[in-house]
Amino acid sequence: MNDKVAKLNIEGETLDLPIVNATYGPHLVEIEALSKHEFFTYDPGFISTASCRSAITYINGEKGILLHRGYPIDQLAAKTDFLTTAYLLLNGELPNSTEQNEFKTIIASHVNPPAIVHDTLQGFAKGAHPMAMLISLMGALAGYFHPIKIRDAAERKHMIEQLIGFMPALVAWSYQHHIGQKTYSPRAGLSYAEQFMYLLFDDKRGNNPILNKAIDRILILHADHEQNASTSTVRLAGSTLANPYACMAAGIAALWGPAHGGANEAVIKMLSEIEDEKNIPKFIARAKDSNDNFRLMGFGHRVYKNYDPRAKVMKQTCDEVLSELGEQHDPLFKIALQLERIALEDDYFIQRKLYPNVDFYSGIILRAIGIPTELFTPIFALARTVGWLAQWGEMCDDNDFKIGRPRQWYTGPKVRDI
Ligand code: CMC
Repeated sequence: MNDKVAKLNIEGETLDLPIVNATYGPHLVEIEALSKHEFFTYDPGFISTASCRSAITYINGEKGILLHRGYPIDQLAAKTDFLTTAYLLLNGELPNSTEQNEFKTIIASHVNPPAIVHDTLQGFAKGAHPMAMLISLMGALAGYFHPIKIRDAAERKHMIEQLIGFMPALVAWSYQHHIGQKTYSPRAGLSYAEQFMYLLFDDKRGNNPILNKAIDRILILHADHEQNASTSTVRLAGSTLANPYACMAAGIAALWGPAHGGANEAVIKMLSEIEDEKNIPKFIARAKDSNDNFRLMGFGHRVYKNYDPRAKVMKQTCDEVLSELGEQHDPLFKIALQLERIALEDDYFIQRKLYPNVDFYSGIILRAIGIPTELFTPIFALARTVGWLAQWGEMCDDNDFKIGRPRQWYTGPKVRDI
């Protein structure tokens, strides 16, 4: 904290609002005092409003920087695996080898969720979206693991590890129920990404190290992204001291939309719809037309007004996977590259700083690996579970922790009689 203040003149009275410094990024003006003066601030979409303090993730959207606990995302993707990044997000430091082995052993011990998961899935029709199933599974597990002592740090830690351990099976089994196929049981001695691949494909695709590495990298790149819509939803639900599984259900619901986690699925749908490189100009023209609500999926970001640093790593992973599988000639990938080239040279996209985001490439990689489109967003949820839980845990430890309760600008009628 420094002793700088912002002076706000409201109706002749000057208010001194304290200015506080962040490690990086904009300074913050503390506005709590405003409410005592019958004034609120209005900031749709939270463009300029910090909802919390956090030491987990830093993003500089102008420069295309993403740090987890200070470490750049490209270094984490190159030098760690998903569970090591998860440990870092949850605990603040990278683990030494003993801590790393212990953490991996604990997560692996939770690989088998309770039977209630299968019972809950039976309530869904074949063909229902796996995201809908995941939301319900979290509800069922909230019922199964209730009550939880939210204020007890040891109990929170146990819940966090348990939920991370359950996720590969929850995602794989939801998909298998979606297509009406039998589920596979977890096996001992596998890494997190390998376990997920075995749960999905059994031996058919579970043992290719390049593909497993690509999945692991996708998980690292999606693990956390500070106060996005789903994470803020988890924090808001958690601020009521709700069961953490119920908070995850809220986060998964927020993630599902095509403006957020549903974008990777929407990218593939859009590329299939474009169908041929010759149709690209038509779709670019639609994206630029203010009377058409079509947007180029996988382009643009609320925070990144430069190349998404995750997209850089993802593009490289995409090349590795396509060459491993000999699928460089996938027509959708060709359309994607051409679309990217045209959009990056177009004034409309340049002026608005619309670059390809992480989901532009992750969809192509997942498709090449043979992962069905309906699983793209659930895989995002699998990865982001770590970020949601790290942020939830941080909130529970924060002395400023209050129930989240935004204010409103009332625009309805004045009082009237019936
Ligand atoms: N295609 C065409 N125009 C766009 C796009 C796009 N993908 N994204 C933004 N614009 C235009 C928008 O129409 C507006 O134009 P104008 O100034 O003429 O009105 C301008 O750019 C600013 O857009 P905005 O809606 O104010 O930007 P935002 O920060 O609120 O939205 C976004 C961010 C991600 C919702 C949006 O860019 C979008 O819908 N992108 C496509 C969906 C997508 O790929 N989402 C994944 C985000 S990355 C994964 C994650 O972190 O969840």
